[in-house]
Amino acid sequence: MDPGSYNVNRSHRGRDAEVQRLAAQARLGWKKEARTLAWFGLEDGMSVLELGSGPGFITEQLLTLLPHSVITCLEIDPSLVAQAKEYLRDMGGERLHFVQASVMDTGLPDASFDFAYARLLYQHLPDPLGASREVWRTLKPGGRLVVYDIDDEIANLLDPPVPEWPLVSARFAQAQAAQGGDRQIGRRLWRILREAGFQDLDLEVIAHHSDDLGIETFLPQMDPDRALPLLRAGLLSEEEVDALRAARDRFLAAPEPYIMMLSLMVGGTRPPAGKNQS
Ligand SMILES: C[S@@+](CC[C@H](N)C(=O)[O-])C[C@H]1O[C@@H](n2cnc3c(N)ncnc32)[C@H](O)[C@@H]1O
Repeated sequence: MDPGSYNVNRSHRGRDAEVQRLAAQARLGWKKEARTLAWFGLEDGMSVLELGSGPGFITEQLLTLLPHSVITCLEIDPSLVAQAKEYLRDMGGERLHFVQASVMDTGLPDASFDFAYARLLYQHLPDPLGASREVWRTLKPGGRLVVYDIDDEIANLLDPPVPEWPLVSARFAQAQAAQGGDRQIGRRLWRILREAGFQDLDLEVIAHHSDDLGIETFLPQMDPDRALPLLRAGLLSEEEVDALRAARDRFLAAPEPYIMMLSLMVGGTRPPAGKNQS
């Protein structure tokens, strides 16, 4: 497999907990995500390439949202391809294709998709520009790439504040960077897509918050056990993990705890033929 900072088996309580976390994250605010994807030009009937599709929870949403579209799932990890196939076995039928490959070298034909969607993939890629060039190649002229990702600096707002969180967040970023990832990718997405030749760029912020979705929706993201791999890697001490646990409990015991999470969507178009093709 290509090096990158994502490994479903390396998370805090192992694979199942990580898959459950991805499921919660995929369902968290799909309504807004779908609305924004439509705003970026996603329409039923388009041929869609989903990049880094993982266990298939977003694929499930796309199949329901786009009943006349063919969806191609590209995923590097064969065990996740197998899991997604099993999860989606009663959905999609001929409309659903799986490709086990890296986004760096997809093996997909030139100019074959109307729309490509990369959700929480770019933060794990050592070479997001190379990936964008490869996606550009697979898009039809006029086709669009939308990247959904985060930037740690603006990802979470907690009220009351949790002063222990910035240290943990910085250590998460450090660990991911050591594997070639980048949790501050959000601020770079526009330039990456522009350099890859995309035009008509746009950037939107998607806000999810607990007054709308309920505080319990965010609990898997706030689980202090997610910091255990950092403890094992020597990036946090036992005391720091205990302090995080106590801080999370204090936060949840506050009279009206509030959390807002911001994600970014950046989209661009492969120019139609004849219009400054790169
Ligand atoms: C954080 S998960 C996100 C899964 C899914 N997109 C979602 O939003 O729930 C990142 C996914 O990207 C996959 N991935 C990482 N590097 C990749 C690469 N170079 N090419 C294709 N997929 C990759 C991982 O195996 C994993 O399934």
